[in-house]
Amino acid sequence: MIMPNLKVNGRDVEVDAAPETPLLWVLRDHLNLTGTKFGCGMALCGACTVHVDGAPVRSCVTPLAAAAGKSVTTIEGLSADRSHPVQRAWIEIDVPQCGYCQSGQIMSAAALLERTPQPTDADIDAAMAGNLCRCGTYPRIRRAIHRAADLKSGGSKT
Ligand code: FES
Ligand code: FES
Repeated sequence: MIMPNLKVNGRDVEVDAAPETPLLWVLRDHLNLTGTKFGCGMALCGACTVHVDGAPVRSCVTPLAAAAGKSVTTIEGLSADRSHPVQRAWIEIDVPQCGYCQSGQIMSAAALLERTPQPTDADIDAAMAGNLCRCGTYPRIRRAIHRAADLKSGGSKT
């Protein structure tokens, strides 16, 4: 069995899995990082979003081989203590309803703010379009991303 090396949440890991194994299964089943969710398995819902070298990817359709030698960040690795601005904003605005889609939403939002620190509504809608929420939390997600941008830039206004 091939064992690609990758870094997950800052830790070097060796995984005993075939290179075509979806990264999502490696994270959930091999590494017990179950914060990343399975929704559709076809890159249609965004529930499985993680970062690979800082870019948001759908881990359900990303083979393990594509992450080999790269740095993967999951919701568990975004911060050690929920202090990431996106997490703080999400808590402050109480975004989740059932919660199932939310780790994917948060990972997409965090990646957006890395490349666009002060996104417009249009930027947010474009970046988040692939993250579906059956509970319709979209208005709170948009507010929370603006709030996270403010927190990230050091602002504290509400
Ligand atoms: S589970 Fe990956 S996009 Fe839906
Ligand atoms: S909070 Fe329920 S699916 Fe998004």
